[in-house]
Parts: sequence; structure tokens; C-alpha cells
Amino acid sequence: MKSAPWWKEATIYQIYPRSFFDSNGDGEGDLPGVTSKLDYVKSLGVDAIWLSPFYTSPNKDGGYDVANPRDVDPRFGNLEDAKELIAQAHKRNLRVIADIVPNHFSDQHEWFQAALNSKRGSKERERFHFYDANEDGTPPNNWISLFGGPSWTQVADGQFYLHLFDSSQPDLNWDNPEVNEDFEQTLRFWIDLGVDGFRIDVAHGLVKEDVLKNHPDPQGLSNALRLDVAMDAEKRNALLLTVPYFDRQGVHEIYRKWRKLFDSYVGRDIMAVAEAWVHPPVNATRYVRADELHQVFNFDLLTAEFDSKVLFDVVERSISLNATVNALPTWALSNHDSPRVASRIGEEQARALALFVFGLPGSTYVFAGQELGLPDGQLQDSDRQDPTFFRTNGAIKGRDGARVPLPWSGETTPFGFSTAKPWLPISQSWKDLTIENELADPKSSLHLYRSALELRKEFLVGTGGITWLESSQHGHKNNSLLSYSRGSITVVMNLSDSAKEYEATGKLVIVSAGTVEAQDGKKVIPARSTAWFMA
Ligand code: GLC
Ligand code: CA
Repeated sequence: MKSAPWWKEATIYQIYPRSFFDSNGDGEGDLPGVTSKLDYVKSLGVDAIWLSPFYTSPNKDGGYDVANPRDVDPRFGNLEDAKELIAQAHKRNLRVIADIVPNHFSDQHEWFQAALNSKRGSKERERFHFYDANEDGTPPNNWISLFGGPSWTQVADGQFYLHLFDSSQPDLNWDNPEVNEDFEQTLRFWIDLGVDGFRIDVAHGLVKEDVLKNHPDPQGLSNALRLDVAMDAEKRNALLLTVPYFDRQGVHEIYRKWRKLFDSYVGRDIMAVAEAWVHPPVNATRYVRADELHQVFNFDLLTAEFDSKVLFDVVERSISLNATVNALPTWALSNHDSPRVASRIGEEQARALALFVFGLPGSTYVFAGQELGLPDGQLQDSDRQDPTFFRTNGAIKGRDGARVPLPWSGETTPFGFSTAKPWLPISQSWKDLTIENELADPKSSLHLYRSALELRKEFLVGTGGITWLESSQHGHKNNSLLSYSRGSITVVMNLSDSAKEYEATGKLVIVSAGTVEAQDGKKVIPARSTAWFMA
């Protein structure tokens, strides 16, 4: 029997290189820093690392503003460092996923500089979305950038260019064959250098429609797309059906071509995961049809309340929708764009949810620091660097809180991350959350992650689907419990603030917090805790 490809139910550890470990004392993490900590990464029991961008970049948007996608930014090292990182990861049987950014370049990319120095209508401008101003001088349409402010910036000769994100991130024109060819070169470049896969940034955004039309409610649309703006769900969903620049059919043609490219590397098992925020949820499955990409992120758990009905719906929907295209879901509780899960739902809840999710079929993503139970960093406005903060004049605080560097060791900040002042301050209150401390504490979040990932690999990966035992639709003896069985394991999560009895058979193998007591033939699951039992 052919064994499943490596990515199928992999646990993937997301590293934000700038915040991981600083090897040369300049206050910023770098590639040699990552390489030097691969034994730690391996010890977590993960299968792969995903590296957020480390390419040449003015770093206006944390490196997602790429000035040369086929080189390493000096702040992170050089190409030799990238090769060494990949070689050392492979030596430890860790796969490496690179984060590519096809929706836009940095304005410092040579193509954009050439476009600025060329005439309207030139082939240099054709690689981006340049248009004349309206007769009254206003931009070609009324779209609002995802980071706030207009989606258009005017250049010296009066034309405007489109940028869905920061003005330093001009969108590429994917109708242009040159753009397609250039990206294929970038993919090949990194595959040839040794990477095993790609995370595709803004994968749903490459193709735009109606670039010259106004949207009837641009501010509403912009708010609907921002998860940090509260909005009535029905209104949000209605607006999300009207986005003219996301999830157009044309993107799928691009991924079909890429899939052929990946598959042409016979024996390499190159995979790709799409960052595609799409609506309605069923649309996400299109990205993982058999001839397209391998995985698509499910972002629901980044915002879901810690509530049994909500979590049941999210899990059930993701499993069943993916099954329609013969794919497995992905699970992520945190990433570099959203509040850390321990801050969002609470520390114990975050552990319980992680243990609940680690049992599920599909691929699990863990954002570096999540295994420690890190909260969001507390920052002063003067520390902030996210363009969202600047483009909204401080109204939206942005994503820096999740990007504070990792605390490694010692008693005082910056806890071994760097010998210099870190690029974002690490609070002294993280003293007990260092890797060194958590390694020494058998009850730490770090130990929970390590044990759970080991058990997952040994008893769950490859064992097929789940059977719900407790939910609002299955059994529901108690609406604060969620439970399923898979293979020989029964997973029970108690979401409430008090201990709950549960009739579970088998022996306890792991619990996220507290102690499971036996009582009258039943098990008592501690408050805000998940337990696994083995038959
Ligand atoms: C993606 C990245 C985010 C970045 C944006 C623009 O959503 O995850 O960090 O700001 O794309 O590239
Ligand atoms: Ca450094």
C-alpha cells in the first residue's frame, strides 16, 4: 500500500523568523537563528515548518512586501543561510514550507520602479494595475484598502495604481503572462533550493474583476472583511458575497497550472496551502480540488467563541465540506495576523481547544509561541509597526501583539531571544513562560503540546474520520461537553466553568488541565479542560 503523503495529516509549525531567535545580536530574529533552534522545533513532535517571508524587503508589512522574491533579506541572512536551514531541517526529517506572496510586490521591486519610470500604457505598467484618474481627478474606483484608506495611490504623471494592502504593496496584474512566468520561476527557484511546499499568501486575491466599477458600499465591505470590526453576521455575509477582488474563478486556472508544476517534480511530494478567506465556506473547497492545491486554511477557529455549539459547527462543517472534494481539513488556533488564542479565549480554554483539535483528522498548524501558551504582547503605540495601525491613524491597533519575539531562557527580558533590544519589547511578565522554564515544569503548556503531538502521531494520524459522541446534535446529555471518538481514542472537552461527569470508557492518556477523577463508574472532567481516553 502506498503510504499517505507527508503533508496529509502533518503538524506544521509556523515560524515568524523575525521573532524566533536572533543569532547575531541585532534585536531581530534571522535564518541562522531558526537553524540553531531546530532541535527544539523537532522536540515538539511537528512534521514541518512554515517560514513567514524572509525575502528582500523594505519590511513595511513584516516582509509580505517583497522586493526580490528570489533572495534573502540581509536582516535574515543570505541564500547560503536558507540552504543551510533547509539542509538541517531535512536532516531532522522536518519539511520546509516557504511563504510566497503572489498578489503584490513591494514598491521597491525592480518591476515597480521600472513602471514608475515608464509611460502610461507601457509594458512596465501593464504588470500592475495602473489606470488614469476619473475626470474629476478621483481614483479609478472607490475600493478601500484592507489596511484602511484608499486602495489607490497616484503617481507623478497622474495615473493611479491599485493596492489592496499598503500603498507600498502594488497589486500584480495576473492577466499578464509575464507575471505568470515570473512566478513560476520563483516557485522553481525555491523548489530547486530544497523547499517542500508553499503557503500561498492572499491566494484568493490574484484575479480582479470590475476594476473600473465603484462598489455600492465600500466602507461596509471593508468592515466586513476586517475580523476586528464587529458586524451583524447576516449583514457581513451578504457583503462578503460582493467582493470584486477575491475568489474570482480565474484564480483556479492559476493553481491548476501550479499543480502541474509541483507534480512535475516527481518523487518530491511538493505541497501548497492556500491562504484564502472566502465566503460562503463551501468556496474554500474549490482550492483543494484534485487538480489544484493540497490544503486550504480554515480560519474559523481563529475567531470562534469557546462554545460547544459554535465549535461543533466549525469542526463538522470543515470536515464535511472538505470531504466533498476528497480533502482533509486544516486547523489553526493562532497565526501572525490574529490575536493569540490564549489572550482571545483564555489560557486554560486555549489548552483545552488545542488538545481537542489535535485529535481531529487533517493538518494542524501551530504558531510559534502557541505551545508556550503565550498571550499577546502588551505594546505601547510607540512600539507598533503594523501598517494597519498607521493607515487607520491608530484606530486599529494591528497585529504586532502576536508577533512579539519568543522568550527562550533566563530571568529578565528579552529572555535569551537576543543580546540586543528586541524589535518589539518582551514583557518581564513572561518570566514563567520561557522555553527553559516550561521545559522544567511537567505541567506546562509546552509539555502538553509535546505529549499530545506524540500521542496524535502514534494513535490518530491515518485512522480516518471521527464519530461524534456528545454535541448539540449527538447525545447532548450536557451542552457544555463536546466529545468524539477516533481510532482507539475518545476525546472529551468540558467547556464549562465547573467539573462535569462523563461516561467514558478506557484509560486516561492525557488531560489539558486539572485531574480527571473517577466517580460511580463515570469520569469527572475538570472545568475548561480536554481529556483523551484510550480503549
Ligand atoms: C496575508 C498575510 C499578512 C499580510 C497580507 C498582505 O494576509 O498573512 O500578514 O499582511 O497577506 O500580504
Ligand atoms: Ca538578527
